[in-house]
Amino acid sequence: MVLRGILLQFLVITIMKYAKGQNSDNSSTEIPLLDNLNMPLVALFDTTKLNQVLKVAIKKSVEDAINEMIPRIKQAVIEDIGYEPGRKRERPAFTASLTLTKSLAINEVVVFDKIWLNMGEVYSQDTGVFTAPKTGLYSISTTVMAYHNSYLHCNLWKNNEKVVLAFGNDLSTGTLNVVMALKLNDTVYVKHHTGSERIYGDQRSTFSGYLITE
Ligand SMILES: *[C@@H]1O[C@H](CO)[C@@H](O)[C@H](O)[C@H]1NC(C)=O
Ligand SMILES: *[C@@H]1O[C@H](CO)[C@@H](O)[C@H](O)[C@H]1NC(C)=O
Repeated sequence: MVLRGILLQFLVITIMKYAKGQNSDNSSTEIPLLDNLNMPLVALFDTTKLNQVLKVAIKKSVEDAINEMIPRIKQAVIEDIGYEPGRKRERPAFTASLTLTKSLAINEVVVFDKIWLNMGEVYSQDTGVFTAPKTGLYSISTTVMAYHNSYLHCNLWKNNEKVVLAFGNDLSTGTLNVVMALKLNDTVYVKHHTGSERIYGDQRSTFSGYLITE
């Protein structure tokens, strides 16, 4: 607080000097200050050094302010997006998409091969299976796009249980957004349902999920 008062005095004096547009032949100036007991004091400053002193003082206050703010900004980011960018310990989350259009056999698991995000290595691009790394509530989404003149039926599966169906027809998409209560090691995947149908690749079909809360 005292430092801030002094800084303010510096600024006022400087502004006053420049405002008057005059250079006194003496390079020092008297600055009235108040101490903690509101007793008047007089400080003598060499104004030729004022710029430099100001620069150092301002740089220090700015640095102090930034140093104080960084941890708070970091905390806000962590609370906002659930993990600290660049750190390994993250909220489990994945997003994958399908590169090549393909014909699906009956009961074939759709393997979304292109990984965009795989925090905690929870999704396998070899098997197309997401494995819950911890027990909790998860948001799971998939969008599957049917190829030209083709139907497309894909179910979302949890372990060995069929959950919900996504359906598309002739370049339309079927989309699922579900919240699932999963236990550690539960698996979730998208599995083709019937007949020989084609799913559109070109990153138009996607599979993603993340942990909402443990
Ligand atoms: C400026 O003030 C200082 C401090 O009071 C004094 O020692 C010095 O002689 C003064 N210089 C001139 C040029 O008046
Ligand atoms: C979960 O899977 C891991 C890795 O396969 C295994 O080590 C662990 O025992 C499993 N835990 C449960 C509760 O199934």
